[in-house]
Amino acid sequence: MGERVEIFEVGPRDGLQNEKRAIPVAEKVALVDCLSGAGFSRIECASFVSPKWVPQMAGSAEVLAGIARAPGVRYAALTPNMRGFQDAVAARASEVAVFAAASEGFSKANINATIEESIARFVPIMEAAREIGMPVRGYISCVTDCPYDGAVAPGKVAEVAERLFDMGCYEISLGDTIGQATPESITAMLQAVSGVVPADRLAGHYHDTAGRALANIDASLAQGVRVFDAAVGGLGGCPYAPGAAGNVATEAVQAHLARSGYDTGLDAAVIARAADMARAMRRGEGS
Ligand code: HMG
Ligand code: MG
Repeated sequence: MGERVEIFEVGPRDGLQNEKRAIPVAEKVALVDCLSGAGFSRIECASFVSPKWVPQMAGSAEVLAGIARAPGVRYAALTPNMRGFQDAVAARASEVAVFAAASEGFSKANINATIEESIARFVPIMEAAREIGMPVRGYISCVTDCPYDGAVAPGKVAEVAERLFDMGCYEISLGDTIGQATPESITAMLQAVSGVVPADRLAGHYHDTAGRALANIDASLAQGVRVFDAAVGGLGGCPYAPGAAGNVATEAVQAHLARSGYDTGLDAAVIARAADMARAMRRGEGS
């Protein structure tokens, strides 16, 4: 059996937050329940953000209440502020994620805060999470390219990553939000970030806009990264990142890693079923 690489399934959150159709809670629950049988340790399925900013995630508490929780699976939720954190705790999320950016333009557009202000907002979340033993993941968007500010310096990503890690984030997920990264820009970014956060605490979160996500995953594997976010059926995007396509598809990453000799521990048949479901949801046909 090959070396272990984990896929962190983000389709029910990153995927569905960007669908035009208001997807009924029951469909989301059915997708998460299907994914729960695929062998993932972590599935992101909720986001406690302002419904004015992202109406698609408004039913997150109902989704967490409706799913059948499988043993050994952690159900994750995004939390931009204390209100979101409290709602996530009340809804029994197993872990939460704060999300920052490496570029000011995207930070402002996505969470209406400077990078500095966003980090200040995370301080009480980290304290409250520590008190109740809730794991917190840290996202950084625009790790190579920003739709507003252009190319992003690797040093800036390293600075934000170090701060999130020092605050207590157990893992830092590095987002190529608009899918414009190349293996070269990913390598340069990871070399800077792994100087301040160990590679085994990093994850790659690559959108596939330009079709380079798998090549960027290969470049990341070469730098020691062993966790990758992906969305079943290639769902996704970010409403505040113009032109961002979906996350790299879970089924494509799983097949690619298997061909390269890595073991994801995932059941390809279940993932194929979930991908069919995700595509039907996208077409508006439900599950
Ligand atoms: P704001 O407008 O500056 O803040 O938004 P506010 O405090 O004035 O709040 C505005 C309204 O939202 C108020 O309601 C608040 O009560 C309410 P009103 O008084 O107008 O009726 N509100 C909330 N409601 C529910 N839950 C909450 C919450 N907080 C405030 N937690 C804010 C600031 C951060 C809230 C807003 O900008 C926001 O929600 N942004 C989220 C944007 C988002 O979700 N983007 C997508 C996720 S990130 C992503 O996809 C990237 C990632 O995948 C990695 C990558 O690919 O790069 C992670
Ligand atoms: Mg994303």
